[in-house]
Amino acid sequence: MVAFCMNRVSSGVIIIFAALSSFSVGQNTCPKQKVLLHNVSPQYYLDKGERIEVWAKMIPEAWQDNRLIGGVSDPSLLLFNMTSVQASTAFKEVITRNVTAAITSKPNINQSRASHKSEFFIQAFSEDASCEALRVATNISIGCPPYRHIQPRRLTFLGCNELLSRSQVVNTSFEHENEYDVHKYGCPQQVKIDEPFVPEFDLYDKDQYVRAVTANMIMWEENGRSSYKYSLTMREAGCLKPAQSWKKMSNNFLLSLNESWTRENYQSCFEAGDATTRGDLDAQYQIVNSTGGSRLKWTSPGLYVFNVRVVDPEFSYCDLVTQFAVLVQEPPPGGFVIPTFLVLGCSCVSIFIILIAMYLTVEYCIECT
Ligand SMILES: *[C@@H]1O[C@H](CO)[C@@H](O)[C@H](O)[C@H]1NC(C)=O
Ligand SMILES: *[C@@H]1O[C@H](CO)[C@@H](O)[C@H](O)[C@H]1NC(C)=O
Ligand SMILES: *[C@@H]1O[C@H](CO)[C@@H](O)[C@H](O)[C@H]1NC(C)=O
Ligand SMILES: *[C@@H]1O[C@H](CO)[C@@H](O)[C@H](O)[C@H]1NC(C)=O
Ligand SMILES: *[C@@H]1O[C@H](CO)[C@@H](O)[C@H](O)[C@H]1NC(C)=O
Ligand SMILES: *[C@@H]1O[C@H](CO)[C@@H](O)[C@H](O)[C@H]1NC(C)=O
Ligand SMILES: *[C@@H]1O[C@H](CO)[C@@H](O)[C@H](O)[C@H]1NC(C)=O
Repeated sequence: MVAFCMNRVSSGVIIIFAALSSFSVGQNTCPKQKVLLHNVSPQYYLDKGERIEVWAKMIPEAWQDNRLIGGVSDPSLLLFNMTSVQASTAFKEVITRNVTAAITSKPNINQSRASHKSEFFIQAFSEDASCEALRVATNISIGCPPYRHIQPRRLTFLGCNELLSRSQVVNTSFEHENEYDVHKYGCPQQVKIDEPFVPEFDLYDKDQYVRAVTANMIMWEENGRSSYKYSLTMREAGCLKPAQSWKKMSNNFLLSLNESWTRENYQSCFEAGDATTRGDLDAQYQIVNSTGGSRLKWTSPGLYVFNVRVVDPEFSYCDLVTQFAVLVQEPPPGGFVIPTFLVLGCSCVSIFIILIAMYLTVEYCIECT
């Protein structure tokens, strides 16, 4: 019995799992396969850095071939891996084969190509091409999945009316406090004024959680409030050249802030360009991410509504934009804070007085009787 497997094919054209040579597959007799089980959906989207895994399992008829082959219609778009497991069944003469395929997009795909779609298939192998083989196929589109969006972590729409109507919402960016639209932004996240802040987001397909957003983002306040700054300078963030900033990016007055700084024109400051781009590294570094680095620092309390965009082009094919609100609160005035030792001291004294009172009462009562 001879068996061989080609598990890795870099160009992703075709993989054959050869069968046992004792299976007699005649030139003119088509192999008889009973069923091809699989978990392949008719359609997939592949975003940046993602991988699709599917399996297909062949159950042949007795003594029949169980070979499966995989392939793609456009090898310049997709790469795939297949691994295979054979198993015998209750019927000794039926040997099943389960292949698992891992599919990724090729690095450095030509972005200007119109269609980023390729078919991937797994089918029963047959030496005679005219045989009709069991087959499963799917279309894989490389690009932004529909309904993909980002959402602030722990977003909630309930129970914040009271919070918003409390008198401490003094400095809102709205003319009137009741202009704040809970249905649009959800409840604002609460932060203390001396707490450096970085918003956290998750990626969703409709309501389905996909992964956390770790990539670089930019923010701008919806109503132009500017009483906040960033905690790091470009130098402290580790920039090798001056980073992009709102001042630099918004100097084209024909574009709104929403259009002026995007994934398309984003440049990282961590890749040193030529020596001529040296300049001032002491300005604020206005790009934030969840894993560290620059944070927001507040200079005035109140309600802020931010727009946020993921600018890192390596994170997703989608333009990920959303809004969120932050309620920045001042700590309660110092006078209200009662020192711990005072509380403990008072409790000790009161317990002592109670004990004495009880003792005297008991003494007195004994004397009475
Ligand atoms: C194929 O499998 C190997 C090891 O299991 C893995 O390192 C590689 O990334 C896989 N390739 C694809 C296209 O999934
Ligand atoms: C085929 O293999 C995959 C991965 O090992 C497994 O998840 C799947 O359940 C198997 N299918 C069948 C029908 O056994
Ligand atoms: C990308 O595709 C376009 C259109 O098909 C073609 O004109 C261009 O030369 C390609 N670029 C590269 C780097 O292959
Ligand atoms: C993939 O898409 C093409 C047309 O875009 C269609 O003809 C084909 O049937 C589709 N394949 C599957 C498996 O849905
Ligand atoms: C409101 O914000 C402004 C600056 O935006 C600040 O000067 C002022 O002190 C703030 N008022 C209160 C009551 O916090
Ligand atoms: C910004 O542009 C995106 C599309 O690029 C759009 O979905 C979003 O609603 C815009 N936001 C604002 C505040 O205009
Ligand atoms: C997050 O930002 C810091 C600098 O503020 C940077 O060093 C780091 O590489 C960034 N992380 C990601 C995932 O881009």
